[in-house]
Amino acid sequence: MTQILITGGAGFIGSNFIRYMIEKYPNYKFINLDALTYCGNLENLEGIEKNPNYNFVKGNITDKKLVDNLVSKVDYIVNFAAESHVDRSIKDPEIFIKSNILGTQNLLNAAKKHNIKKFLQVSTDEVYGSLGKTGYFTEETPLQPNSPYSATKASADLMVRAYHNTFNLPVNITRCSNNYGPYQFPEKLIPLMISNALKDEPLPIYGDGKNIRDWLHVYDHCTAIDLVLHEGKLGEVYNIGGHNEKQNIEIVKLILSTLNKDYSLIKFVNDRLGHDKRYAIDSNKIRTELGWEPKYTFETGIVETINWYLENQKWMNKIKSGEYQEYYKKMYGNT
Ligand code: NAD
Ligand code: DAU
Repeated sequence: MTQILITGGAGFIGSNFIRYMIEKYPNYKFINLDALTYCGNLENLEGIEKNPNYNFVKGNITDKKLVDNLVSKVDYIVNFAAESHVDRSIKDPEIFIKSNILGTQNLLNAAKKHNIKKFLQVSTDEVYGSLGKTGYFTEETPLQPNSPYSATKASADLMVRAYHNTFNLPVNITRCSNNYGPYQFPEKLIPLMISNALKDEPLPIYGDGKNIRDWLHVYDHCTAIDLVLHEGKLGEVYNIGGHNEKQNIEIVKLILSTLNKDYSLIKFVNDRLGHDKRYAIDSNKIRTELGWEPKYTFETGIVETINWYLENQKWMNKIKSGEYQEYYKKMYGNT
């Protein structure tokens, strides 16, 4: 029976991936290793815990003994575990170095020792830096990370590459654009704006709101990772994106109009330090080599997502009632 170690499976993308995989592969076994940091939430996996093919282990990817033991039981590793928020990395980079770089290296060491079949590193388009008005990130674009977060993700990618080239470890790296969808922590643009709009609270937009991100529904990210895990050519990097470039202000206005809320809720605030201007992914390689196609258009995906948050306000309110309040005050003051 195929056994997969999924790290960071209680977070946004990891939990969506576990839900997707457990249904698609009833003959696989899954171990979810997650430290349950501020954004790890077992409620993202409600219902899954009863599945006999699913096992949750609370622990840190930097824990050598634990990781060695878990990796000895599995065939594959998909590494989602990371500190993932750019703003937090600007305020306090240290934990990003520990989790994102040292954690990945610890997993790589165990993967090498136990001869696993594939190590898949879930990375990000942010490792490529920022684009001007034209052009796209391809897999050949030089790594030029600009934030402490993206610098740690790029470092981890380089370690993955090094373990492939030095030790012949079977690896893939995926680099995806901005995800949206259910179970995303409300520090990220889309769930933050939906949740503030629902409460008639100000929607804080950094700078002039004209920065561009390339959005992909989390479901389509999951199908791409599944494909790369099973069919990706060893040692290769695959970019993942859906050609959905939007300015932040466009997204915020779309959320407000879908919820019948007034644009006067928009509040322009100080810009993010080192704010990358534009991301845009060229995903031709995964489309032509592996036949991946996204299912969602942004227009259908965003409406479905807004509805999900409308129907799951209990989930959101619980998250926002804890440490989140302090974080929000630190970030946005009295906005
Ligand atoms: P998230 O912050 O929602 O979830 C991260 C999960 O990892 C949490 O459950 C957390 O508890 C766990 N975790 C953190 N540090 C850990 C550690 N040291 N040991 C064990 N578990 C730990 O993040 P996400 O948005 O789901 O992103 C998942 C991965 O995908 C990250 O590696 C991120 O860099 C990458 N990625 C994210 C996006 C995006 O738009 N969100 C896009 C491309 C790539
Ligand atoms: O590109 C992939 C990356 O996307 C992932 O690697 C990261 O883990 C993920 O967090 C995301 O990074 P971004 O910085 O692009 O996402 P975020 O949701 O934080 O911000 C999206 C855009 O919205 C960005 O230009 C900053 C802006 N923004 C964000 C917040 C939280 C605002 O204007 N106001 C806000 O309050």
